[in-house]
Amino acid sequence: MPWNPDRYHQFQKERSAPFEDALKLITVREGLRVVDLGCGTGELTRRLADHLPGSDTLGVDSSAEMLIRAEAYARPGLRFAQGKIETFASSQQGGWDLIFSHAALQWVDNHRVLIPDLLKLLNPGGQLVVQMPHNFSHVSHRLIATIAQEEPFLTTLKGWKPDRPVLEIERYAELLFECGAAPITVFEKVYPHVLENADAIIDWIKGTALVPFSERLGDLYLSFVERIRAHLRAAMPGSPVFYGFRRILFSASLPVE
Ligand SMILES: C[S@@+](CC[C@H](N)C(=O)[O-])C[C@H]1O[C@@H](n2cnc3c(N)ncnc32)[C@H](O)[C@@H]1O
Repeated sequence: MPWNPDRYHQFQKERSAPFEDALKLITVREGLRVVDLGCGTGELTRRLADHLPGSDTLGVDSSAEMLIRAEAYARPGLRFAQGKIETFASSQQGGWDLIFSHAALQWVDNHRVLIPDLLKLLNPGGQLVVQMPHNFSHVSHRLIATIAQEEPFLTTLKGWKPDRPVLEIERYAELLFECGAAPITVFEKVYPHVLENADAIIDWIKGTALVPFSERLGDLYLSFVERIRAHLRAAMPGSPVFYGFRRILFSASLPVE
């Protein structure tokens, strides 16, 4: 997928609050072996690594564009590598004390398999800490789904729809329990954002939810965005607009053997 680091960074300030909440879920210990899955441009991975004294941290991301930026944050004890989360999860190369993922697992399918696979890669006493958007019921996301069903987009997309692998929070709690994790913390939080107008929400989703549409729609992508924009302006007129953004956060630890 064509990730654009500049566009993604436009709302960096708004994205830092869930990161701070995810950091608070981590049990800090000296010398942890850490992986950040879907590390993006790396500055949050750097903050994660700096938060964990003596840690050895690896940031993994599938996007070469994002990783070029990430290299600037590398230091002894922090490195980056290109790779897919699903390959990492099924690799059985365990030995991690902390598997962390911020705003990335929503791009990976089949969480009923993914989450247990990730837990299997942890050392005894290891921890999985995840934050994912769960905002599909917001009008902006409903408009994406509706307009993708309209012509000429429907024909060009050939029946393709973005995957929505994110489960309800109770399912994560059950999955983590079934895998023997304890303690488990799972919650959903609405992050309140006040943005200038509906166009700002369009800018936001251009850096995230609309990314998979840009390569699939090609020349039609611009008119797809403009049709969503017209409807969103009607649904959210005026300035400023309130953008309540739901996210799921969870943490699960394995027992110390
Ligand atoms: C929304 S960004 C989050 C980046 C960073 N963690 C942050 O919070 O700022 C999502 C990142 O996940 C990466 N990503 C998406 N699907 C992936 C996959 N299947 N394997 C590895 N990385 C993936 C993208 O390249 C992108 O950098």
